[in-house]
Amino acid sequence: MTDARARALERLATLGISRHEARWLVEEFLVGGDPEAETALDLAARRRLRGEPLQYILGHWPFRSLDLDVDSRVLIPRPETEELVDLALAELVHGAQSAPLIVDMGCGSGAIGLALAQELGQRGVRAQVILVDESLDALTVARGNARRHGLTTVSFLHSFWFDAWSESLAARVDLIVANPPYVADADLASAQIELSHEPESALVAPPRDGVEGFDDLARLIDGAPQWLRRGGSLVLEHGADQATPVTERLVERGFSDVADFVDLAGLPRMARGRWQ
Ligand SMILES: C[S@@+](CC[C@H](N)C(=O)[O-])C[C@H]1O[C@@H](n2cnc3c(N)ncnc32)[C@H](O)[C@@H]1O
Repeated sequence: MTDARARALERLATLGISRHEARWLVEEFLVGGDPEAETALDLAARRRLRGEPLQYILGHWPFRSLDLDVDSRVLIPRPETEELVDLALAELVHGAQSAPLIVDMGCGSGAIGLALAQELGQRGVRAQVILVDESLDALTVARGNARRHGLTTVSFLHSFWFDAWSESLAARVDLIVANPPYVADADLASAQIELSHEPESALVAPPRDGVEGFDDLARLIDGAPQWLRRGGSLVLEHGADQATPVTERLVERGFSDVADFVDLAGLPRMARGRWQ
């Protein structure tokens, strides 16, 4: 590290930015010997001190092997969602389709769908991936990320969950994967300031059947069977206190091989059901 970078790192740490984050900011903004870089770094530090998430300030964030553009139009992709991609890949191995049809519901930045398209492509699997969101802003960001990574086999659909799906997809989909909104309104109010910068529509879901934040999960579980082929899978991320309502609803709706999985922190955060 150069002297200028070391000094900048110290300055940011003194202002109250953690060393870990200060390093990200210095690497991003203090490029070359450009005097304007110092100003850009100061502006970035001020944004961070006001509580804006580091990822939005940088404008991009890694997700699995992709570097994704992110801004306040989309949810910041989370590490636990990287684990959801592992679960989705395992389902595709189980289903053993040579050219699977996959739908990422509520794609946001495109994290899940684009990672699947890229990683399956690297394995020689010609997957067709459809990325769905009700937010046109999110679809714009996801499209940009697909272009940036040359992922030309993916397509995009503006839809409120299943509402705008073509009948031609009925009983044909191999995998529906989603990280839907599942946070209760009251929990958002008490959450870290960083969450207040992310789109509320990406985080918060109304209650359903007495379960906080459950409405979107329930809609996905109820709607998926019409579209899954026999042997196809539904893979969902959910809140740590929602494993029981999610798995119970999957069973009630007729899914088989229903299971819930813990994340690296040991919390129950992902569910799977197979349609027979
Ligand atoms: C928790 S974010 C997940 C974003 C991305 N999949 C990820 O994991 O980083 C939920 C996404 O679902 C979208 N969404 C919310 N309600 C929706 C609906 N009714 N239909 C389609 N998408 C919806 C939001 O716009 C947001 O992009």
